[in-house]
Amino acid sequence: MNIGVFDSGSGGLTVARALDDAFPARNFIYLGDHANAPYGDRSVDEIYRLTIFGLERLFQENCSLVVVACNTAAARGLRRLQREWLPVAHPTRRVLGVIVPVVEEVTGVPWTADQKPLPRSVEAPNTTVAVFATKHTVESRAFAGEIYKRAPHIEVWQEACPRLVPLIESDAPDNVIESAVGRYVISLKDRMSGRSPDVCILGCTHYPLIEPIFRKFLPFKTRILSQPSVTARSLADYLKRHPEFPVSTIGTRRFLTTGKPELASRIASRFYGRAITF
Ligand code: DGL
Repeated sequence: MNIGVFDSGSGGLTVARALDDAFPARNFIYLGDHANAPYGDRSVDEIYRLTIFGLERLFQENCSLVVVACNTAAARGLRRLQREWLPVAHPTRRVLGVIVPVVEEVTGVPWTADQKPLPRSVEAPNTTVAVFATKHTVESRAFAGEIYKRAPHIEVWQEACPRLVPLIESDAPDNVIESAVGRYVISLKDRMSGRSPDVCILGCTHYPLIEPIFRKFLPFKTRILSQPSVTARSLADYLKRHPEFPVSTIGTRRFLTTGKPELASRIASRFYGRAITF
């Protein structure tokens, strides 16, 4: 059986790499919807439709389980498709996201628990959490709302960063990205009356690539969560609880794109950490 990983473009490769490293014996198929990326300017319905299209493609490739490694797609449509589409169209397949693992990590409360605050990784009351993400993810309040439900003592501050995905995908020079990130972090800190967050969620799978730039604008005491590794840990836990997704012995990796394979392959190593061919 194969595990699929879906993203609007190349950002999900940061998650794919963490999963590949964590599960060497499992088969992964990555699908980047480069032809339609970025999802930032698309409507909620378009994102929903494109995500379903991507999932159908991965299901055709014999993926019984797919990780939607795109916060935008997960924030805008994952719940709805898990509730309305999947049980009817593919009742035996499973689709997971990248937001739930981070919410669980920040609050220490399992997704399925009945919202009893049990802070684990963020112990102190009045902890402040910053979420930097795409406009869709911020507007959906997926991180903020779900954290609040589980741990109302955690203060969540969100900042939409609409320029970052296009800048990263187009391989913009560091100084251009740095000035954009600087502006977003300063804007968030201004709204926080100059305070720095205790924890920072880079809520877009493109951002691990520019984590060092975020770090420049955040003090050492701010813990920047790594969404790819948190997702890998969460998937390990899920697979332990679900023996219906058995491990294979081969450990193959395939990379598919709806866009131009040469172009996707050319920029892939920046996200994946080594050369790969779509
Ligand atoms: N990597 C996607 C995310 O995590 C970027 C979305 C986009 O294409 O705008 O949100």
